[in-house]
Amino acid sequence: MASFGHGGNIKEISRQNGIDYNNIIDFSANINPLGMPVSVKSAIIEGLQQIEKYPDITYFELKNAIADFENINKDNIILGNGAAEVLFNIVRGINPKNSLILAPTFSEYEEAITSVSGSITSYVLKEEKNFEIQEDILNYINEDLNLICICNPNNPTGVVTSKEILEKILIKSKSNDVMLLIDESFLDFIEEDLSMMEYVKDYKNLIIIKSLTKFFALPGIRIGYGICSDETFLEKINKIIPAWNINIFAEIATKESLKDENYIKTTLEFIRNEKQYVYNELKKIKQIKVYKPSANFILLRTKDKVDLKQNLLQNNILIRSCSNYEGLNENYYRIAIRSRDENAKLIKYIKKNLQK
Ligand SMILES: Cc1ncc(COP(=O)(O)O)c(C=O)c1O
Repeated sequence: MASFGHGGNIKEISRQNGIDYNNIIDFSANINPLGMPVSVKSAIIEGLQQIEKYPDITYFELKNAIADFENINKDNIILGNGAAEVLFNIVRGINPKNSLILAPTFSEYEEAITSVSGSITSYVLKEEKNFEIQEDILNYINEDLNLICICNPNNPTGVVTSKEILEKILIKSKSNDVMLLIDESFLDFIEEDLSMMEYVKDYKNLIIIKSLTKFFALPGIRIGYGICSDETFLEKINKIIPAWNINIFAEIATKESLKDENYIKTTLEFIRNEKQYVYNELKKIKQIKVYKPSANFILLRTKDKVDLKQNLLQNNILIRSCSNYEGLNENYYRIAIRSRDENAKLIKYIKKNLQK
């Protein structure tokens, strides 16, 4: 498991830089700025006493809540302590010798695959092609491959892949006996229907993973899930996963979040407006190139060499340096969408920094 190189590590940053943890405005983790749903907070407080009992070992209600939300069969669900754990368990279950991942992309695919000593081929997303997956990805799929990981929308680029191309990848993967893992952890922030969930029942080689920690602002509670219809694989995975791996608060929070339609609607509206505002404002800054966002974060590149992350920290603003992503370098940064006041502060200090 990677212990560094992620966004959201504000405690570590505060220790290293002598900044009070509570004063950091964290643009480095892509968490819903509205905070957790009020319904979740009340349900957790009310459910406090449940700590004294074990969670339901079958997670019957939790799986039903997810199945209703995703419109899938509850027996196809793999629960995990965050999508990161789901990913590691799935990769252990597949034990892939050869895998294909995107570059740049979320680093945990590589971490999970190398943890089982698998080799990796990168499909390099080219800036001149707007970091989009091209049809030539199909040439990488053959019988020697065991696993393909695609993050949709991709973190950190924010680029989405169409269902049309994903369907082609899925079909070719199936005929070559390759598992296709699609990470839809940020898809709930996008209003267009890009989910491949409906394909799960017909394609046993498809696994979708989702995190609830971003959209419902629950990163501290740890909850995520995978969806797959291959019974043999599910049986194998269920043997790997320890009993009671989901704590009672994660269960309560998930059940409440998924039925909070008002929160979901408010979030979509909020992110739509703020994303447009931040994108428009950043585009006015000549010293950076801004990539069109889709979810709740934006990738940008500084045209000159400047340590924007360290400089902004002097104003208690934390952004994600993308220097450790394959295919990017120290000129790239990712910022999360936050509240209007915080976004305005970020823009003001980026300008101050770059327009000196
Ligand atoms: C694309 C992607 N998938 C999965 C995860 C893991 O999420 P979780 O907090 O549910 O483990 C992250 C976290 O940053 C992510 O960016």
